[in-house]
Amino acid sequence: MDLKEGWLDRRIFSDAEIYEEELYRIFARSWLFVAHESQLPKAGDFLTTHMGEHAVIVTRQPDGSIKVYLNSCPHRGNKVCFADAGNTRRFVCNYHGWAFNTAGELQGMHEEYCYDEGDIDRKKNGLRQVARVGSYKGLVFATFAEDGPSLDAWLGDFRWYLDMLLDNEEGGTELIGGCIKSVISANWKFGVENFIGDAYHAGWTHDSGCRSMNNGQPFPPIDMDNSYHASVNGHGWEFGTEGVGDLFLLGRPKVMEYYEKIRPKMADRLGTMRSQIFGSVASASIFPNVSFLPGISTFRQWQPKGPMQFELKTWVIVNKAMPDDIKDEVTKGVMQTFGPGGTFEMDDGENWENCTTVNRGVVTRHERLHYRCGIGRQIDHDTLPGIVYRGQYNDANQRGFYQRWLDMMEATDLGAMPPWPEPRLTGVAETRDLPGLFAL
Ligand code: FES
Ligand code: FE
Repeated sequence: MDLKEGWLDRRIFSDAEIYEEELYRIFARSWLFVAHESQLPKAGDFLTTHMGEHAVIVTRQPDGSIKVYLNSCPHRGNKVCFADAGNTRRFVCNYHGWAFNTAGELQGMHEEYCYDEGDIDRKKNGLRQVARVGSYKGLVFATFAEDGPSLDAWLGDFRWYLDMLLDNEEGGTELIGGCIKSVISANWKFGVENFIGDAYHAGWTHDSGCRSMNNGQPFPPIDMDNSYHASVNGHGWEFGTEGVGDLFLLGRPKVMEYYEKIRPKMADRLGTMRSQIFGSVASASIFPNVSFLPGISTFRQWQPKGPMQFELKTWVIVNKAMPDDIKDEVTKGVMQTFGPGGTFEMDDGENWENCTTVNRGVVTRHERLHYRCGIGRQIDHDTLPGIVYRGQYNDANQRGFYQRWLDMMEATDLGAMPPWPEPRLTGVAETRDLPGLFAL
C-alpha cells in the first residue's frame, strides 16, 4: 500500500487473514452504526443487528436510554432473539429457557432448582453489554472499545457535513418503511468506497439507467471547479457547491419542490453554502461501513460476512416534518434507484462482485490498483472542513478512507482494544506475519 502515491494492494479485498484482522482491528474498535432513534420510540422497543460479525440487540430502556448487548446467551451461546425488531419485556433463550429483561439482566431460567444455592449469580450472567453507546442527531452508534475517542471525536468535523442530512429541517430525520436486506458476493469495502466519492463511475456505469429515468438525458458533466471531495477521519462526502443539480432527485419533481420550499429555512439553519451543497449530486460514507445519498435518501450499511461477501442493509431516510405524500415519493425514488431491484443497485453490485473475484487471482492479486485520480488537487478552503480536494472526479475520499483503515490495521497501540483480546493479537502488529503486504 502506498496511499500517498495512490496505490492499493489488491489482497485487502479477498485475503482471509486480512479479513480476520479487520474484524478485530476495525470492527471491534470503531464506533459502528446500530440504529436510528426513530426505530426505537418506546421503552421495550428493540432491534437486532450486527457489529462486525457479532449479533447484537439494541433496546430502548424505561429511562429513555439505549442499551446494546451481545445477542448470545451466556449459557451455551445461542441467540436469545431471532426477530428483526419488536417490543418486548424479556428475551427467553430457545435452548434451556434462560430469560433476560430488556436491560440484558438474567431474570430466571427453566427448572431453576437444578442449580445449587449460590451457583448462579444473576448479576454476573446477564447478556454481555457493548462497552459504549452514543448518538448523534438520531444516529445511534456503539463500540466494543472501552477506551478511545468519544463518538463526537470520532465523527469530528464530519458533523459539519452530517448536519446537512440530519438537521436540515426542524424535527430531524427518521427511517421509514423497514429495512431491506440483500447479500452481495463482494468485499464490504467496495460498497463504502463507491459511495464515499466515486462520482466518476456514475455517468458510465449508470448511463442507461440514468437516461431511462431522465427523459433520455445522460448524466451531466461534473463542474470540476465547483465540486469537491472532503475527508475527515476516514469519513467522506463528495458534492458540488453551486446550486441544485438536475439529478439530485432523479425525476422526483414533487420532492424537489419540497426542498425548494424549505431551502430558505435550511439556509437559516445551516448557512447558504450548506443549503446549496444539500441539493447537489452527492454521496457520502461514515467510516467504517455506513453510506448514504443525500436527496435520493437511501441510507445503507455494508455488513461484513466474510472476505468476499457482505449483507447490504438499506433504509429510506426522510425528514420527520415532511408530509406523507412527499415521504411516499421519496420511498418510490429510493426503490426505483437503490433498492435490490433498483436500476443502479444492479449495475453497482455486478461491478463490485467482479472486482472482488478478479482481484483474488493468485497472480492478479500481486498487481497494485490505481487510486491516483486528482492526487495533486488538494486545496485549503475557507469554509469547508477536513482534507479538501477540488473536483468531484477524484479518488481523494477513497485515499482518506483507506488511510484510516491502514492506520487501524497497523496500530501498535492497542490500548483501545476490547477486553477480550485474542492471544495472537495482545501485542503489536509484528505478532502477525503478513510479509510484504503493506509494502508495495
Ligand atoms: Fe441459552 Fe442454554 S443456551 S439457555
Ligand atoms: Fe453506482
